[in-house]
Amino acid sequence: MTTSRLVVAANRGPASFRIGDGGELVAHHAAGGLAPSLVRALSGRKAVWVAAAGSEAERRALHEGKLPALDGGAELRLVDLDPAVYSAAYRVISNATLWFCYHGMFDQVHRPVLDRRWYEAWEGYRAYCSAFAEEVSASADDGATVVVNDYHLALLGAMLAERRPDLRTVHFAHTPFSDPAELRVLPVAIRRQLLEGMAGFGRCGFHTPRWADAFARCAAVEQVRTPPPFVAPLGSDPSELLPVAASARVGEIVERLEERLDGRRLILRSDRVEPAKNSLRGFLAFAELLERSPQWRDEVLFVARAYPSREELPEYLAYRSEVQHLVERINDVHGRPGRPVIELVVEDDFEASLAAYTRYDVLLVNSLRDGMNLVAKEGPLLNRRDGVLVLSREAGAFTELEGPALEVEPFDVSGTAEAIEAALAMGGDERSRRARELAARATAHPPADWLAAVIAHARRPGDSG
Ligand code: G6P
Repeated sequence: MTTSRLVVAANRGPASFRIGDGGELVAHHAAGGLAPSLVRALSGRKAVWVAAAGSEAERRALHEGKLPALDGGAELRLVDLDPAVYSAAYRVISNATLWFCYHGMFDQVHRPVLDRRWYEAWEGYRAYCSAFAEEVSASADDGATVVVNDYHLALLGAMLAERRPDLRTVHFAHTPFSDPAELRVLPVAIRRQLLEGMAGFGRCGFHTPRWADAFARCAAVEQVRTPPPFVAPLGSDPSELLPVAASARVGEIVERLEERLDGRRLILRSDRVEPAKNSLRGFLAFAELLERSPQWRDEVLFVARAYPSREELPEYLAYRSEVQHLVERINDVHGRPGRPVIELVVEDDFEASLAAYTRYDVLLVNSLRDGMNLVAKEGPLLNRRDGVLVLSREAGAFTELEGPALEVEPFDVSGTAEAIEAALAMGGDERSRRARELAARATAHPPADWLAAVIAHARRPGDSG
């Protein structure tokens, strides 16, 4: 196997596979989010991208040697994993435990339940990280740089430090990090393993000072020595998004949207179907606005673009069905036959999302907590109507967009209703001043600059410089 000067590791690769109708393998290039930007940022660097073979189709692609070449010359390598190990690591530990912990989402009366099954899953998580450590070690040149993404791979730092102390490693968390009190839902031995795993990286990076500080405080409380965390915010990518937004298909989607709007203003949200995005309270706020000021019923349409997500987790399926029921109820009360006040579109269509970004009057991002939230930056980059951003104080993006965005607190439904109304009522001059400022800030750290900053922080374990 050839080795590389730069290795990127993440649970997901920039391309995944599904099995087509005729049983054939179909490569599906990730449409949105970090992956396409990162592939572009890697362009010309001859990197290797190591990801998990998480599905049956991916395992088949790996075994049949059918991995696609990535745009820009990077090479994709998939880690061969026992399906039970993958499921334990991805589902039980990464998404049902660490994600909930870092986003402060545990309903502590019922969750988490750390029983025998959970401890077995923890062993699966260790095995998963260890399989990644093998693949990364086999892919990395002597003294190479390794950029590891997210909570799925927290233990990799210590594992790589032991196997390959020559490597310059860096971990980047695209999520928030818990306060010490929140981390204490995990048993002491587990939180130490987590923090020691991360401390094994040369450096650990976060999108905002708040998450970096939370990590440093957790390490101090648990008495784990870590290198000082760094902050490297990620911005939206004009070079990727502007050409797509100018495409004919996006133009057609906007036309169809105009027909449905029929002169009404557009309130938009665009998220994964994800409890941390707080869609329920967003819809409740809209309903409160319509109760208080019924004249808006005929003047606005709320379009919620929702990407199906993590449907193997019961919490996510339940959340999706709660969202659907709430939307039906609000439409029954406030809409008219054939003219709903909320249109919920559950689909993953990148171009349709970009089309909606160009056209919104108000963009609502009211997350409970978010590492960054790129929607809050991609919307202002593409919007053509001086749309107003209503943004949660708890989203990482708030650190950079505070001021030109209208702020909301995620639990405050009435406050969110007021902010949406203020956005709808805002005068043209103020809208355009805010929109210009938002677009400038949203593009401040394009992915290539972000990646360069992250790579510059990579260190050999124990190197303080
Ligand atoms: C967040 C995480 C990513 C993750 C993405 C989608 O943005 O930071 O690591 O890939 O959510 O979640 P999924 O479970 O579908 O990979």
